[in-house]
Amino acid sequence: MDLQVTNSPFNQDQIDLLNRLLPTLTEQQKIWLSGYIAAAPAAVSAEAQAVQAPAAPLELESQPQVPEVSKDVTILFGSQTGNGQGIAEELSGKLEAKDFNVIMSAMDQFKTNALKKVENLFIIVSTHGEGDPPDNAISFHEFLHGRKAPKLENVHYSVLALGDTSYEHFCQTGREFDKRLEELGGDRLYDRVECDVDFDEDAAEWVENVVEALSKEVEQSAAGAPHAQPQPVGAGAPAPAESKPAHSRTNPFQAELLENINLSGRGSNKETRHLELSLEDSGLEFAPGDSVGIYPENEPELVDKLMDEMSWDPDELVVINKKGDTKTVRDALTGTYEITVLTKPLLEKAAPLSDNERLHELVKEGNEEAVREYIYGRDLIDLGRDFSPWNVPVSEFLPILRKIPPRLYSIASSSEANPEEVHLTIGTVRYDAHGRARTGVCSGQCAERAEIGEKLPVFIQKNPNFKLPEDTDTPIIMIGPGTGAAPFRAFLEEREEQEAEGKTWFFFGEQHFSTDFLYQVEWQRWLKDGVLTKMDVAFSRDTEQKVYVQHRMLEKSRDFYDWLMEGAIVYVCGDEEYMASDVHEAMKTILQQEGGMSEEDADAYLEDLQQQKRYQRDVY
Ligand SMILES: Cc1cc2nc3c(=O)[nH]c(=O)nc-3n(C[C@H](O)[C@H](O)[C@H](O)COP(=O)(O)OP(=O)(O)OC[C@H]3O[C@@H](n4cnc5c(N)ncnc54)[C@H](O)[C@@H]3O)c2cc1C
Ligand SMILES: NC(=O)c1ccc[n+]([C@@H]2O[C@H](COP(=O)([O-])OP(=O)(O)OC[C@H]3O[C@@H](n4cnc5c(N)ncnc54)[C@H](OP(=O)(O)O)[C@@H]3O)[C@@H](O)[C@H]2O)c1
Ligand SMILES: Cc1cc2nc3c(=O)[nH]c(=O)nc-3n(C[C@H](O)[C@H](O)[C@H](O)COP(=O)(O)O)c2cc1C
Repeated sequence: MDLQVTNSPFNQDQIDLLNRLLPTLTEQQKIWLSGYIAAAPAAVSAEAQAVQAPAAPLELESQPQVPEVSKDVTILFGSQTGNGQGIAEELSGKLEAKDFNVIMSAMDQFKTNALKKVENLFIIVSTHGEGDPPDNAISFHEFLHGRKAPKLENVHYSVLALGDTSYEHFCQTGREFDKRLEELGGDRLYDRVECDVDFDEDAAEWVENVVEALSKEVEQSAAGAPHAQPQPVGAGAPAPAESKPAHSRTNPFQAELLENINLSGRGSNKETRHLELSLEDSGLEFAPGDSVGIYPENEPELVDKLMDEMSWDPDELVVINKKGDTKTVRDALTGTYEITVLTKPLLEKAAPLSDNERLHELVKEGNEEAVREYIYGRDLIDLGRDFSPWNVPVSEFLPILRKIPPRLYSIASSSEANPEEVHLTIGTVRYDAHGRARTGVCSGQCAERAEIGEKLPVFIQKNPNFKLPEDTDTPIIMIGPGTGAAPFRAFLEEREEQEAEGKTWFFFGEQHFSTDFLYQVEWQRWLKDGVLTKMDVAFSRDTEQKVYVQHRMLEKSRDFYDWLMEGAIVYVCGDEEYMASDVHEAMKTILQQEGGMSEEDADAYLEDLQQQKRYQRDVY
């Protein structure tokens, strides 16, 4: 109904203006306008004056030109091993507690045509491979960097980039997203934060700061105040209370070690261990495809050697975090700080603490190749020895170190088959470098020091991107050489419990049949019982020519293709650098050979399979 002098408190001039304006307003503008009039005292008093006496027409053009900041927020994450997803969930919880309307989605589940409507966008993304997006970010990354990407003017955004400074392309994907959003016209609400492997404190700070920044924007726009740059707040800012599971990455469960067996036979080049941990009373739940995170400790002998080298007092107390908690130097070097990896940023931070000219020379610009060469295979003991004298106390040296990151292990058991337990398959990392035998921190601890009955701090890292199909009739193909076999033991235990009817095919590879056939008896029993329909093995060092899983796939290319056409889901687990890409190429060859596809069609087919979650990878 049109406004008239008779049905409103307005004079004719005002009625004319309002009747011209009101039909042009969107619902959102009407809501904003009514909120504005209700909240702004000046506007209300003007209205009151208008009721009392006829006044000059409303000066609509004099209203503040502040665009409204919406309370609708979209959080998109690209995460391979779950860290980014965890932070996205944390951010979502904090925003919802402040009455924001949050849509949180993995990038590959987000409909790109909805991007045009997004007003506040938070991106949390890790980098994998060699500077590549994680699997569930690939298609969105490609879309956003393509010609079809929409203009994103009026979009407030911020990017949290996860990475590891020991990789050459640190946080590459996060950097690319941040730059692209700016190019598309986005308005950076809060500067990109780049996190190393010990991301907890930095990520928590980013979460606090973006929530604060967006809240301020909303408040200011509602009050009609001019657009202001938000000030960062510290991580210690009060957060709303939230209900959290009792045990998580930040509050690990102390799991008792029930079993610790060397699966590798005598004479093997490897030591691959089977661990069983108790999750009794932990409240932790998992599904096949998830991983366990273990917080390891550095080797005591290494810690002693380092303190000796640096002449540090083992009992001196040092602050170990932003909260101000303290530990002795020995405990901090054992359980808090990473001492086995050198990175370029670490060398750069160490240089001002040493009088050694060679270190100053090494970190100069242009010496990147020399830095790469130096840090490969060396640790903090090498650094301490090579670049003495050090001229700062231990309390000033330790803060330049990264915190020890937890190590992830693909779960090798089903909780249906083994309630309150979790099984892992851990390959021990051992190598010689620069005249010293070296051992992987976590795998070494599990192989050499973890005794039955001892407790290990663990958490569950969910992996929604590596999951059995709900329909138990769906055929599955599993490719898992070496420790990559772990999740498939869990898959088959689960399928056995489910009495699933769907066909299963497992490709396994290791060096030698006689010493490295991990879980041999179990696969054979499952083959006999029909839980496993087919198994192909590739023992690489039993023949003159190396044979790998992808060679077996190619030998069975017709069957492989037929299974794909029947709707099979393909799972790949294990080495990312070589195996996973070779297996990918083998699948392309099969599609070209058996399906008559061109290379481009085969690429598109695999991309589509990935999109449909019919090609899932858990690679490391
Ligand atoms: C999602 C996921 C699932 C995983 N699942 C499993 C699993 O089921 N089983 C499993 O065993 N592992 C698994 N891993 C790997 C695991 O997390 C650890 O990375 C691995 O156990 C090594 O950790 P570490 O502490 O023993 O070794 P670290 O102390 O981290 O040492 C390993 C590092 O040593 C260096 N290095 C190794 N060899 C050499 C060499 N010859 N010369 C110089 N430097 C060298 C490399 O930088 C290497 O990254 C998984 C990883 C991920 C991300
Ligand atoms: N990024 C990380 O955090 C991290 C940490 C630890 C381990 N890893 C990786 O995880 C992998 C798993 O180690 P693992 O000891 O369980 O097994 P592995 O080294 O992958 O070996 C398992 C089998 O795969 C074979 N293989 C080697 N190259 C291959 C290729 N290109 N394609 C297919 N098969 C190939 C091996 O043969 P040969 O040995 O005869 O060549 C062996 O027979 C390691 O390769 C390591 O690179 C990564
Ligand atoms: C196989 C592998 C490759 C990685 N490659 C890179 C890299 O190229 N650059 C980088 O900054 N970080 C790299 N990382 C580190 C991850 O980005 C980091 O662990 C991050 O916290 C993972 O987050 P997500 O669990 O959300 O995927 C890599 C990690 C793994 C396991």
